[in-house]
Amino acid sequence: MAKYKIAWLPGDGIGKDVLEAARIVLNKTQLDAEYIPGDIGWDCWRNEGDALPARTLELLKNVDAAMFGAITSKPVKAAAAELAPPLQNQGLTYRSPIVRMRQLFDLYVCLRPCKAYPGNPLNFKEGIDLVVFRENTEDLYAGVEFGPVPQELADTLSKLAKSFAPFAALPAAEYAVSCKINTRAGSERIARAAFEFVRKHHRKKVTVVHKANVVRATDGLFLETAKAVAKEFPDIQTDDANIDAMTMWLLKNPFNYDVLVAPNLYGDIISDLCAQMVGGLGFGCSVNIGSKLAVFEPTHGSAPKYAGQYKVNPIATVLAAKMMLDWLGETAKGQALERAVAEVIKEGKVGTYDMGGSNTTLEMAEAIAAKL
Ligand SMILES: NC(=O)c1ccc[n+]([C@@H]2O[C@H](COP(=O)([O-])OP(=O)(O)OC[C@H]3O[C@@H](n4cnc5c(N)ncnc54)[C@H](O)[C@@H]3O)[C@@H](O)[C@H]2O)c1
Repeated sequence: MAKYKIAWLPGDGIGKDVLEAARIVLNKTQLDAEYIPGDIGWDCWRNEGDALPARTLELLKNVDAAMFGAITSKPVKAAAAELAPPLQNQGLTYRSPIVRMRQLFDLYVCLRPCKAYPGNPLNFKEGIDLVVFRENTEDLYAGVEFGPVPQELADTLSKLAKSFAPFAALPAAEYAVSCKINTRAGSERIARAAFEFVRKHHRKKVTVVHKANVVRATDGLFLETAKAVAKEFPDIQTDDANIDAMTMWLLKNPFNYDVLVAPNLYGDIISDLCAQMVGGLGFGCSVNIGSKLAVFEPTHGSAPKYAGQYKVNPIATVLAAKMMLDWLGETAKGQALERAVAEVIKEGKVGTYDMGGSNTTLEMAEAIAAKL
């Protein structure tokens, strides 16, 4: 029996291309693993009415880790229109399977390292080394949304919030409400994860990202809680910034920042920005961590226009595989893999389209594997 069981979830679109590439590299590391395929994504939604079928949930309960490619997500009406004819008008509602997976398995940490590998012509600046900790289960992704808005909710909001007055007389279908829900416990555990990471990896500083000056209740709670956690780590520098200013400061002075911790939506936004500063989505890797399961993935989505063309950059996914090796305790393999990626980038002989090259997804994987 293999030492590790890894759920293998390509999803759809370029998720399939990049996971095929990651497997070439993982095979070369000789990780003693059984890779168990699982279904997730758009085809599952269209044909079964569930983008994250029960059999995949069962699989995820019985593995050491999961590698996930990407899925296509569409707004509710567009998703309903694409259901197979027998599933139409059955009251099925689409929800992103990755958001569901994060919530069902309480994968509350989304950790996204963004490191400029030397010599990457796409680096915004050489030497950038940022890590984003995105809260992964709450905030505007809680899934508590209303559109049209039920009269009962409108009546309650009218009663409880004076600031609701401009909306109170609107017909139900003329507005929508998405609830941003942040808890003290959720804010505390993501802040703690960020500070513990800084301590473990001998880094310097945590910056708390928020918009507490305007979104006072939820972001106020997030900021207040993160500041309380910071007091337990007096050896680590802490500061905070509003999300809007943060995007400007990150571009202006990226070296002033180290580890960033943010509620779900702001974390999503800054992770794409940070990924772009180190080469773009082809370099942004990510892990969703809970107490029992960790799901490793590239930050990017399914990029449907490139699906099946083996054109996109697999480095993001290969770096996610590197994080998986570290997480499994296979750190020597993880380090070797990162060195191989760094060498290929530095040599500059092999590059996918985003790097200005013409190599395929699988050629890039073979080049990395050849360095191992
Ligand atoms: N975790 C996920 O699975 C995830 C994340 C984000 C978006 N999505 C979904 O993916 C679909 C497409 O979304 P999108 O177009 O906004 O974002 P995307 O990340 O799929 O792609 C945006 C663009 O980034 C570039 N890009 C992405 N990955 C790349 C790679 N590996 N190499 C080179 N270039 C790359 C391409 O130019 C692409 O068109 C949507 O349905 C969206 O909901 C899924």
